[in-house]
Amino acid sequence: MARARFHSLPVAEVRPLTAASVEVTFAVPDELRGEYDYLPGQHVALRAHVDGRELRRSYSLCRPPEPGRISVAIKRDLGGAFSTWATSELRPGDAIDVMSPQGTFTLDSERMQDRHIAGIAAGSGITPLMALAGSVLAASSTSSFTLVYTNRTAVDVMFLEELADLKDRYPARLALHHVLSREQRSAPLLSGRIDEERLRRMLDTLLPPDTVDEWFLCGPFELVQLCRDVLEEYGVARERIHFELFTTGEPGEPRGDVGHPVVVHEGERTAEIEFRLDGLTSTVTTPVDANESVLNAALRVRPDVPFACTGGVCGTCRARLVSGDVRMTENYALEPEELERGYVLTCQSHPLTDRVVVDYDV
Ligand SMILES: Cc1cc2nc3c(=O)[nH]c(=O)nc-3n(C[C@H](O)[C@H](O)[C@H](O)COP(=O)(O)OP(=O)(O)OC[C@H]3O[C@@H](n4cnc5c(N)ncnc54)[C@H](O)[C@@H]3O)c2cc1C
Ligand code: FES
Repeated sequence: MARARFHSLPVAEVRPLTAASVEVTFAVPDELRGEYDYLPGQHVALRAHVDGRELRRSYSLCRPPEPGRISVAIKRDLGGAFSTWATSELRPGDAIDVMSPQGTFTLDSERMQDRHIAGIAAGSGITPLMALAGSVLAASSTSSFTLVYTNRTAVDVMFLEELADLKDRYPARLALHHVLSREQRSAPLLSGRIDEERLRRMLDTLLPPDTVDEWFLCGPFELVQLCRDVLEEYGVARERIHFELFTTGEPGEPRGDVGHPVVVHEGERTAEIEFRLDGLTSTVTTPVDANESVLNAALRVRPDVPFACTGGVCGTCRARLVSGDVRMTENYALEPEELERGYVLTCQSHPLTDRVVVDYDV
């Protein structure tokens, strides 16, 4: 996998989706096409200066891959710094920094053949599923997709028209169920919050788990957790349940210590962190008592070390632990199989040994 890096990309189009969300399309120049190839379900980090502060936030790519353009859908989060700015200020012709795509919440074309894929999304969690549903249905004439999409009310539904168009294009292979938590729909099953009881009824009637090959869940922490637990009780294997979290649901976001200044004093006990990035090996020391993250320390000597959320959610700061040991505080991004292969989130990793070696290039 090529290392993620930022390039400034021009905004080609800003299209309102709902009163609180926009689709932003960036033009990808020919010479950068290879860097922005992606699999449906992946995300990019955007970087901008807002009120004098550098902000980085991740956004899922919302369309099936298409050469020369990439699109994200941004929903305004009440009081949110980046989303408020992006949904009100971004205009065609502006340019902002976009990182090359990342993420494992995806399917390659082989795993799209002759499959029944199910997606459960809430609110802006629809974005990666828009890309996945469109791609799966186009990739194989014997694949089908069932999408359960929950919102508060009908006016909150993002991509309402695009979803209807997709349903028109694939009437027999796309099953689309809009669930509204604060509005009555004609079917009682689709009116109200998705709690355990409603979820079980949906699985028993609309979406029997034994008909589904893979599951993709994207929404708030509690909904994703509920779906994972109930699906496991229905006997669905963990490796067939993929999930993407946009936040951990903790108020105030669990931001890491990135940017936190750490000074190494003479005679202090330190650990040594060695890391490879873009083929170049660098070393930095960190005071043991500072309990600094590997990422924070690495940024002291290489400002181009990749990161976005700093809260263990996006996976942008992933690297492979080559030697030594670390303690990871949070992990909402790495799959069990990546952990087994030695990957860590460097924004959440704190050295436990005197020397730690990580590799961002693998
Ligand atoms: C992999 C990934 C993919 C994502 N994809 C999408 C996507 O496709 N579309 C999308 O819209 N979003 C997506 N997100 C979420 C996105 O990255 C941002 O987190 C989101 O837009 C909010 O950012 P913000 O800067 O507007 O809010 P922030 O300023 O980060 O604030 C977040 C929330 O916390 C509250 N808050 C902030 N500071 C405090 C405080 N001190 N105390 C209490 N509350 C506080 C704010 O009011 C706000 O509600 C994704 C996230 C990840 C990790
Ligand atoms: S920067 Fe997002 S998980 Fe580390």
